[in-house]
Formats: sequence, structure tokens, C-alpha cells
Amino acid sequence: MARSTAFPPGFLWGSATAAYQIEGASHTDGRTDSIWDTFARTPGAVYEGHDGSVACDHYHRYPEDVALMQQMGLGSYRFSVSWARVCPDGGPVNQAGLDFYSRLVDTLLEADIVPWLTLYHWDLPQALEEAGGWPSRDTAYRFVEYTGAVHDALGDRVRFWTTLNEPWCSAFLGYGNGHHAPGRTDGTDAVRAAHHLMLAHGLGVRELRERDSSLELGLTLNFADIEAASDSAADDDAARRMDGLANRYFLEPILTGKYPSDVLEDLGPLMPDDLVGEDDLDIISTPIDVLGVNYYFGQCVSGVDPAEATDAAERARAEDPSPNVGSEHVQVRPRDLPVTDMGWEVVPEGLRRLLIRLDTHYTRPAGVGLYVTENGAAYPDDPDEQGYVDDQDRIGYLRSHLEAVHAAVEAGVDVRGYFLWSLMDNYEWAFGYSKRFGMVRIDYESGTRTPKASATWYSHVATHGELPE
Ligand code: FCB
Repeated sequence: MARSTAFPPGFLWGSATAAYQIEGASHTDGRTDSIWDTFARTPGAVYEGHDGSVACDHYHRYPEDVALMQQMGLGSYRFSVSWARVCPDGGPVNQAGLDFYSRLVDTLLEADIVPWLTLYHWDLPQALEEAGGWPSRDTAYRFVEYTGAVHDALGDRVRFWTTLNEPWCSAFLGYGNGHHAPGRTDGTDAVRAAHHLMLAHGLGVRELRERDSSLELGLTLNFADIEAASDSAADDDAARRMDGLANRYFLEPILTGKYPSDVLEDLGPLMPDDLVGEDDLDIISTPIDVLGVNYYFGQCVSGVDPAEATDAAERARAEDPSPNVGSEHVQVRPRDLPVTDMGWEVVPEGLRRLLIRLDTHYTRPAGVGLYVTENGAAYPDDPDEQGYVDDQDRIGYLRSHLEAVHAAVEAGVDVRGYFLWSLMDNYEWAFGYSKRFGMVRIDYESGTRTPKASATWYSHVATHGELPE
């Protein structure tokens, strides 16, 4: 008999998107530029100069998108709010912008879908970047004003609030190697940005908690499964460094109130002495209820003798900016594993390991529940004449990762839900529209939505609470 893969009753099944990746309407009803609008106009920054001005036109087609989720039997929808729509130029509140999210939330609730709101998924108002961006402390205080504005409008109907999506990407891809908006390349700026993002998170949680103690509050972090290429001291050090910056650098201040001391050592002078204010870590570690886990891939890494690492990192930094600030010398070693269209190595058991590790060492002791807030895969879809995609590769990826989540549940991990990335094909940041992650195909010419085979498969999972045979 096949092993049962039934998930616990009440397990939340959802899908995820983000504002800039799907909404379009980038200058409608008062919205002004975010850093992604500006970055997309920068020659060479984004694949073929693609931008989010139209995207999936979700701003106008959201009723159709919610109807699709309802037909699929999804229990929740994770979306993000565009700061530049709600507070154009980071300034006063734009009611028309808030009204869009209010309509969206009402439509979700009518369809019996739980709204899961992310306040910041990478789209800082451009005016705030021009005032210093995340390396400036002031941006954290602007974030709290924006948080209050969104809560004023939606606090009566939204229970799940997450402050940030993947601050590692905002800080280290945005300000470290410049692969993401705003495209700046300075290690110290990246470290400043990381700290102020965490401060914004803590201040945002305090603001929301004061307004309503019944909300479920948290944030989403991205994690990778890191393996050392060998058991040499050099490769071991590389794995420790990557795990430190990618997995522990945000987790520990937020859940334990301390920066990991080994990462501070790796960063050395890149961490400015005056960065961390006296109360900052108290604010940053304000208790949360839920931790969102985004997981896509594993990585195997190699390094140099620990005694040489600081010098090697400095030399590598001078040659080429890297998101691995303080550990720029670390090399990723491809393994003989299947990869997705992003080139990401498929390591489903990494998700099981990660959930067990988080539950054991971090979230359970803090009384925090885990949700997988993103997991999914891009594949080079091949539609038939009707636009239908029989995406067995994506189904295989989803199945193996859901088996991993199930194994974690069986091991006793308090994981309460799963959000598939993504509901539909969308703007994959610097890759533009060239990478497709959706369960629903988007024809970008006509805007037509066509559910793929994976949508039918996932609909079974969401409605039965178990994987099909
Ligand atoms: C995550 C992002 C999300 C999407 C997926 C593929 O890092 O949060 O917006 O781009 O990767």
C-alpha cells in the first residue's frame, strides 16, 4: 500500500504572488515609480528591458484571478501591497491605491479565501531610494507610517500580516551585487540595508501589535540547503559562512535578539560601528507569531583555508561585487543534480531538513508557527495550440517538495501551511518574463489565463489535503 500523505486538518493551502510581479497599472490611480520601475528602465539591468507596467494586469483582472483560486479550492492567497501605490513617492496616503487592496480583500473573503498580506516585497518607492534607500535609517520609520496606513484600511478584514519578503534579497542583491533594484554595489550599504530592513520589521510588528493584539504577525525569510564540497576545513568554513549569511543572519536577530557572532566576524569592518542602536535588537526581536519559509534549492560550496579567508574575500570583493558580503571568495560547485529553468538545483530533502532545524532550534522555542510561504519551480513550458501546458516536470518538483513537508510534519514539526509560487506566470525580476513559475499560464499578448496540468494537480492537493497517488 502507498504511504499516506494526508496533511493535518486545517493545514492552509495557498498560492503566492507579489505586487510588482503581477499587478501592472504602474502609473494608474496615483501610483508612482518604485525602485523596480526605475531599475527596469536601466539599460542592461533586466532581461530585454522587460518591466512591470502591464505584467499580468492583475490590477484590473483580479476578479478573474480570485475566481481561478476559488475553482481550484485554495484556502489562502499570499499577495503583497505596493508601497508606491499606497504612499506614492513615499508621501501621503493615496486612497485610490488602498481601495484596490480593499476590493481585492473583499473579493477573496467572498470566495472564502484567507488573505495573507505581505507589506514589502522589494518595491521601495523610488523617492525613498533617492532619499537614501534602505541603507538610511529613516526608511525604517517611513515603513511604519506606511504599515499604519495599510492597517487603517484593511485591519478589519486581514488577520495574517507579514512585514517583509526575503530581506536577504532586498539587502544583498539590491545593494551588494546590484542584481536587483536599486542596483547598488557596496558591501557596507548592503549591511546597513539589512539592519534597517530588520528594524523596519520590528517597528512594523510593534505598530501592528499595539493596534490589534489578535493579529498573526511575522515575516518571510529565504533559506538554502548548504552542503560543503568536501570535509576539508576550507569547504567547511565556506558552508558555515554561506549558512551564516543566507540562513542565520536574519533569523537570529529576529528570533533570538542577537546577530550571529561568526557572521559579524566574517563581515569585519563592513559592519559599521555606529549601525546598531542601543534598543535596535530589542525592537528587531519583538515577538512574532509566524515565520514564513521560502525554499527553492540547495547549494554545494567550497572555500579556502579559514586563516586565508578574510584576505581571499577582500580580493574577490575588489574584483567583482557579490551578494555574499564578507565571504565573496566562496564558490558554488554544481553537483550532478536536476536543475530548474533558473539553474537551481532540486534538493527536496533540503526542505525537510530545514523545517526540522527551524522547528527544533528556533521557532518552537519561540512559540512561532512555520508556514512555507514560497516553493515552486520555473520550467520551459511548452504550450499546445490552446495554450495548455502539460507541466509534468513542475508537478514532479511540487510532489517531491510536498513529500518533504509531509515528512517534516510526521517528524512533529509545527508547519501549518504551504503557498505555491506561483499562482500564475509573472515578472521574474531581472529575468523579466523569460521564466515561468505559474500553475496558470499567462499569454502576455492577450492576458489570457490558462490553468496548466499543475493547477489541476494542486487543486486536488488543496481540496483533499493529501497528495494524489
Ligand atoms: C523568490 C521571490 C519571488 C519569486 C521567487 C521565484 O525569491 O520572493 O518573488 O521571484 O523567488
